[in-house]
Amino acid sequence: MASSVYIHIPFCATKCYYCAFNTYTFHKEQAKAYLTALRTEMELYTPETEPLQTIFIGGGTPSILSANALSQLLTDIHGHFRIATDAEITVECNPGTVDTEKLRVMQDDGVNRLSFGLQAMQNETLKQLGRIHTVDEFRQSYRLARDGGFENINIDLIFALPDQTMEMWHDTLSEVITLEPEHISAYNLVMEETTPFYESWQADELHLPAEDTEADMFQYTIETLTTHGYEHYEICNFARPNREARHNLVYWNNQPCIGLGAGAWGYINGVRYCNIRGIVPYIKQLSDRNKPIADTEHLTGHAEKSETLMLALRKREGISVAAYQDRFDEEIEVVFRGILKKWMDLGLLERTSTHLRLTPRGLFLANEVFVELM
Ligand SMILES: C[S@@+](CC[C@H](N)C(=O)[O-])C[C@H]1O[C@@H](n2cnc3c(N)ncnc32)[C@H](O)[C@@H]1O
Ligand code: SF4
Repeated sequence: MASSVYIHIPFCATKCYYCAFNTYTFHKEQAKAYLTALRTEMELYTPETEPLQTIFIGGGTPSILSANALSQLLTDIHGHFRIATDAEITVECNPGTVDTEKLRVMQDDGVNRLSFGLQAMQNETLKQLGRIHTVDEFRQSYRLARDGGFENINIDLIFALPDQTMEMWHDTLSEVITLEPEHISAYNLVMEETTPFYESWQADELHLPAEDTEADMFQYTIETLTTHGYEHYEICNFARPNREARHNLVYWNNQPCIGLGAGAWGYINGVRYCNIRGIVPYIKQLSDRNKPIADTEHLTGHAEKSETLMLALRKREGISVAAYQDRFDEEIEVVFRGILKKWMDLGLLERTSTHLRLTPRGLFLANEVFVELM
């Protein structure tokens, strides 16, 4: 029922000050036990009849694992799942944690897409974010990956950072463009409640760009990247032709995905589930050969329809009216008549001949729009 798998590696060298992802400090022995648990978790899922089309190994910092550990993980994945020959297999990497050997292991085991978290091109900003690497270390890691034969690379960036000026954001984008990655994700900083940044922000110790500057940064990102041949295909995501993240499109199209690992989310047979977040209880549960699921939600009826609409509106093309009709056997413009009319009247939504999509103004206000669907 699912042709995609997400695997979570919940380890990082240290935690960045803005990050609320489910990650913990890396310990070699614990990582070993974790990979054994992951293998058991794979075994608890009946292999799909159809081969997998996308696999995303994310984190955390998967590239913090040793070459041997990465090799074991990839061997386990290949041993358990049937994988399409042209499947997209992505690994998230932190600058400074990749070397020639790890890259060779990944390349040999079918990984064909890397995603580097860079965030910013200024060393002082990286330090302020709690990143473990310098700009030069990023350049080296990126070069190693290219030399190692990787032809599909994403770079993650964040804008509206503390003390970040427009000029700094211009410089970051300019240098990233010269590196010609196939894909760029540009997120605006989200203040996550459990983070040190949030605390400093509450104490009035962070100097964030004004809302207007943040909007200007977003506008500049769209103009600059589209001028340089990147298609703006999702609110925060830009890709060279045919280089969209196929795995992420599975989420935005609200399609099934098996989630494995501590804190991972999955969506199978209409059920959204979330795994136990802690590494120790996750390993314990699997040593008893139980699925480590903490929470499930049956996504049916209006909830599934609203979520499908909300996720698809993240895509620049919006939601296909025909695809919605095929999936739910009813007309989207009848089911959501009231709210669609309201958004259109406010200039946030438009109808093309085939799709409903956010207007440029709607893009800037996407979060406010989506709240109404929750
Ligand atoms: C799950 S993280 C993993 C990537 C990898 N560990 C790294 O940081 O290099 C993926 C991306 O999410 C983004 N991210 C994480 N926390 C964020 C926040 N609070 N606001 C905006 N973007 C965030 C960063 O760009 C990060 O690279
Ligand atoms: S941003 Fe990446 S490296 Fe930093 S703590 Fe989050 S997952 Fe780890």
